[in-house]
Amino acid sequence: MTVLVTGGTGFIGSHTVVELLKEKHNVIIMDNLCNSKLEALHRIEQISGQKVPFYQVDMLDKEGVTRIFEENKIDAVIHFAGLKAVGESVTIPLKYYHNNITGTLTLCEVMAQYGVKKIVFSSSATVYGMNNQPPYVEDMPTSATNPYGYTKVMLEQILTDLHTADPEWSVSLLRYFNPIGAHESGLIGEDPNGIPNNLLPYVSQVAIGKLPCLSVYGNDYDTPDGTGVRDYIHVVDLAKGHIKALNYLMGRTGVEIFNLGTGKGTSVLEIVAAFEKASGKKVNYKIVGRRAGDIASCYADASRAKKLLGWVAEKNIDDMCRDGWNFISKNPNGL
Ligand code: NAD
Ligand code: UFG
Repeated sequence: MTVLVTGGTGFIGSHTVVELLKEKHNVIIMDNLCNSKLEALHRIEQISGQKVPFYQVDMLDKEGVTRIFEENKIDAVIHFAGLKAVGESVTIPLKYYHNNITGTLTLCEVMAQYGVKKIVFSSSATVYGMNNQPPYVEDMPTSATNPYGYTKVMLEQILTDLHTADPEWSVSLLRYFNPIGAHESGLIGEDPNGIPNNLLPYVSQVAIGKLPCLSVYGNDYDTPDGTGVRDYIHVVDLAKGHIKALNYLMGRTGVEIFNLGTGKGTSVLEIVAAFEKASGKKVNYKIVGRRAGDIASCYADASRAKKLLGWVAEKNIDDMCRDGWNFISKNPNGL
């Protein structure tokens, strides 16, 4: 089958493209490269030994998106493209709403026009908000605390409404927990611009000596060691979850929501220890105050994906840290 992957040169998209190619699917990538580099495409081609058609198109550009559907017979879309920095979304909300929401509306309009009604969407555990208790189950009420989170809550609703209006649509809403790690080749991985916001890229840069010290945001949470607990998932496991979700929706119509996580929580200090073990480097850290908007603990009930998709995360924290370290060691300055 031919799959259009939006955001396919990004962190999760690039790993998913590699898995799609491994499963013998035809892949077309669309990305405007606002948060990724063309080098990711070359690396994907190096890993897979295949040329991958690439369109440098902004999803807000309806003519550009239309051209992709005009020139290719597309069966389904995996939609990663979007802006994802929580703090930045608070500073420039209109840009986030415009890019993520208008961009997705544009994509869906073109899909409908070409009769392509199968979409796998990148949602996030952020939609569980601050009022639910983990483990999170798919039918819990959703909410958000920042514009980025609201784009995910709204897009889940929009895609659900699309199916209500036209039952031929088949929609898979994948709620990712915290993706980390990298492809085992060390050729692709997470490559953030500037100083990282997220824990693992920050820890990696401390380990490699680019940053002096990790600030641990609070050790007074109601967790075993007082630091924040998250459900870290290897990006390759996550990528494989997309293939399963794609296969699931091909034979069906409807809207399905799946948590993609391991179901297991790991604290900030446990991550520091695991990364030190994987890298053989010291990760200096200091305890500072809590970060606004953070919750104590976030982890999945991953049983639905296991039951309906036959998917379970296979890699553990040591695998994630080993592969993350391999990537940054081979690419200390990114791609
Ligand atoms: P990423 O930034 O590495 O990849 C997103 C890609 O989308 C980038 O390559 C960027 O250039 C592209 N893009 C953004 N706006 C675009 C537009 N208007 N037109 C075309 N391309 C555009 O991010 P990622 O970590 O791979 O995340 C992928 C998706 O998963 C995002 O939707 C993100 O919100 C979601 N998600 C990520 C995480 C995470 O922790 N990484 C967690 C939950 C959900
Ligand atoms: N943390 C630190 N120091 C840092 C960075 C993070 O102590 O420099 C802590 C945080 O307080 C939290 C944990 O590390 O306890 C993880 O933080 P991240 O920023 O890596 O991840 P979050 O869980 O806060 O959020 C991420 C994405 C969101 C997404 C969410 C769920 O940034 O977009 O996972 O998928 F919604």
